[in-house]
Amino acid sequence: MHIAMIGAGYVGLTTATCFAEMGHDVACHDTDSERISQLEAGELPIYEPRLEEAMQRMVASGKLRFSRSGANCVGGADIAFLAVGTPATPDGRIDLSQVEAAARLVSRWLKPGAVVVIKSTVVAGTCRRVREIMAEERKSLDFSVAANPEFLREGSAMEDFLCPDRIVIGCDDRRSALLLSEVYRPLTERGTPKVLTSTTNAELIKYAANAFLALKIGFINEVADLCAETGADVGPVAEGIGLDRRIGPSFLRPGPGYGGSCFPKDTCAFAATGRDHGARQFLIETLIERNEKRKAALARRIIAQGELRKGSVVAVLGLAFKANTDDIREAAALRIIPILQKAGLRVKAHDPKAATNARQWLRDVEWTDTAYEAAHGADAVVILTEWEEYKNLDLGRLACTMSRRVVFDYRNVLNPRAVAAHGLTYLSLGRPPVS
Ligand code: NAD
Ligand code: UGA
Repeated sequence: MHIAMIGAGYVGLTTATCFAEMGHDVACHDTDSERISQLEAGELPIYEPRLEEAMQRMVASGKLRFSRSGANCVGGADIAFLAVGTPATPDGRIDLSQVEAAARLVSRWLKPGAVVVIKSTVVAGTCRRVREIMAEERKSLDFSVAANPEFLREGSAMEDFLCPDRIVIGCDDRRSALLLSEVYRPLTERGTPKVLTSTTNAELIKYAANAFLALKIGFINEVADLCAETGADVGPVAEGIGLDRRIGPSFLRPGPGYGGSCFPKDTCAFAATGRDHGARQFLIETLIERNEKRKAALARRIIAQGELRKGSVVAVLGLAFKANTDDIREAAALRIIPILQKAGLRVKAHDPKAATNARQWLRDVEWTDTAYEAAHGADAVVILTEWEEYKNLDLGRLACTMSRRVVFDYRNVLNPRAVAAHGLTYLSLGRPPVS
């Protein structure tokens, strides 16, 4: 199958590379020509485990290529995927301009009988809108539009794509159902379940899935707060509820509030869709508000419980919105660090992958190459991302280098007894203090 991929971001690059690994011929186009140059040089513009090597392998095999020209990418393709951004607008809705521009582009070069598939996360009714735009743009063209939402996570994008829990295919005609089923045959043959449904259902499945996962996180965060007040431990509590197969064990790790490029924007878009259609999503509206307030509340807790005052030094470990990515979009650090600075604290920061991106957004931070350099002379250490290297910190070394000995672990990555054994005051989420 000849596939055109429009958009070479996290989703476009992962999908293009994985389709090539599945045996398809893939051409990938992006309007950012600097990005295409980088990709042509074999460099991945993002940090994503395993993806760069796989991409280089697929390019070398001739299964994957990059193109500056829309015509060159789309002409001859049996199917064109749109994997462009759908950023939030100030009112919480989504900006569909990249999707609309990509639809106009493909309609110009698409061969008759081809299928356009929206991979981006889009609100209900977008496939219909794209169909209208394309029909206006090229009246005589015979084409179909389908939805195929993506459920991969950053940090484990390739595994998630190649071993998904399910594939959702939203089609309103037989042609696109057949073609998309063929594209995914290598995965469905291995037993991956396929949900074949309408385009509107597929569009809604994506938002409802993200909203539900975000709710699980919001729930466990509030349970953690209750554990802290009652002397319970959120670890065994999460395990105890997660073993019920109706609940499931994942997405029950407490943290500083969910972030990233998707949950914050997708929950807002879901709530806005509910308001627009007179079916308000009250649970999600409350979740959005609680998640925002949590970040500010945790920042204030550092100042109060750490007994910090003007000039105190705080070492922040972890700037990425989660581990194994360099993505800092809606990361807790971007909310928490400015609040600490506003209170007159000096901030030192470390992240193994995301510091370069974070520098563009944070001011007056002292950047360090190691966690220990950040902790040197600090009054408090705050862990905001669950990087493996923070789980394995040499606590003796950390304790020796700090000025005062308070550790706020907002990812519960350290062992409370081990931390206490090194004479550190340890404040984590929903776990009883150890002395
Ligand atoms: P991204 O911002 O990393 O990449 C989008 C790319 O599209 C950019 O490189 C941009 O230059 C390019 N682009 C924009 N307009 C274009 C056009 N008209 N023609 C060609 N290229 C164009 O975005 P992403 O993280 O890959 O997300 C893409 C979509 O997938 C979003 O709707 C997002 O919600 C959804 N999604 C993202 C993830 C994730 O983990 N990042 C997972 C599932 C779904
Ligand atoms: C999320 C979904 O998990 C993907 O299925 C989806 O495809 C994607 O959004 C999307 O639509 O773009 P992602 O944002 O990459 O993926 O990362 P997650 O692992 O879901 O984490 C999101 C946020 O929730 C992070 O800030 C993370 O730290 C937080 N989180 C996650 C918790 O606080 N606790 C948990 O138990 C899990």
